[in-house]
Amino acid sequence: MKDVEFIATSFAVPERVVTNDQLASFMDTSDEWISKRTGIKRRHISEKENTSSLAFRAVKQLQEKSNFTPDEIDLIIVATMSPDNMTPSTAAMVQEMLGAKNAVAFDLSAACSGFSYALSVARSILLSNHWQKAIVIGAEVLSKLIDWRDRSTAVLFGDGAGAVLLSASEEKHVLGQDLKTFGELGNKLTAGYTKPMKNLLENNRQMSAFEMDGREVYRFVTHQVPDSILRAVQQANISLNAIDHFLLHQANERIIKQVAKKLDQPLSKFPMNIAEYGNTAAASEAILLAECVANNVIKKGDVIAMSGFGGGLTIATLIFKF
Ligand code: ACO
Repeated sequence: MKDVEFIATSFAVPERVVTNDQLASFMDTSDEWISKRTGIKRRHISEKENTSSLAFRAVKQLQEKSNFTPDEIDLIIVATMSPDNMTPSTAAMVQEMLGAKNAVAFDLSAACSGFSYALSVARSILLSNHWQKAIVIGAEVLSKLIDWRDRSTAVLFGDGAGAVLLSASEEKHVLGQDLKTFGELGNKLTAGYTKPMKNLLENNRQMSAFEMDGREVYRFVTHQVPDSILRAVQQANISLNAIDHFLLHQANERIIKQVAKKLDQPLSKFPMNIAEYGNTAAASEAILLAECVANNVIKKGDVIAMSGFGGGLTIATLIFKF
């Protein structure tokens, strides 16, 4: 076994759509501001489904597409920053729902880089154990972490899940990767802070909502993402022009345009779906990949640069042959 390959991709989003105009009806914002600054027009917001339910819905579709039996799955990783619980992990819940009794399952927390981190970790685990099959999922219900009175964050995020089935391969597929963490910048993007109790009778289990220094994160990302892609491309020993598609985390259309410009690559190589889903953190790259495969934009053998960035702060780029 030399590497892992992508066997199938899928995604699931909540039915309920919330438009920019709907947000503007209860918040001091406008469709014009949101569209111009971010490219977002709508987002899907969960009413009943939690993160594990969206993840499982994506996995069921994956099963329909690739016909695996639950017993065959060796590993399940859910990348998420909005798990149902602290424990059990969302991955353990998916394992139970699927009946994948042979699978080791755990969550991975790296915010919007989570899906790329999880692909890298799943690959290493399959390779080192000579395991055959892994399901990697990016799933989020970010709406439960948002302060819906804070226009600076509320307009940006959405809910959803995407999944891939990875299988052992005798061919090289992952050509290069660049993972980095900038813990010193962690306070630029925070959510879900819980504080220790002052006394034992205190019953305050509240979590903090999303807070982000948008301008700082924007500066960080437009500088670091092109550098990360260049490092990964160098490791892959290919030219930038050999990349067929750049799948960037869907945080902001302006960021994607800026990265395309810095890399001197045509925007047509940067598929986007931010208008429909907003920023779905760890689910974003997984949903984009699955949509591109479903629409025949990405075909078997295409060379892809997938780059995630976000809380941590974290960056992760993977170059792989689909
Ligand atoms: N509607 C109307 N006005 C608004 C809104 C809103 N929703 N939000 C902010 N404003 C106002 C601000 O109050 C400010 O007004 P002022 O000039 O009077 O003070 C003005 O608009 C400009 O605000 P900025 O924050 O400077 O706007 P900016 O152009 O930077 O856009 C944004 C904000 C979209 C957040 C951008 O900074 C960005 O995309 N940052 C990076 C986000 C990112 O990549 N995150 C990483 C992934 S997320 C994760 O890991 C979970």
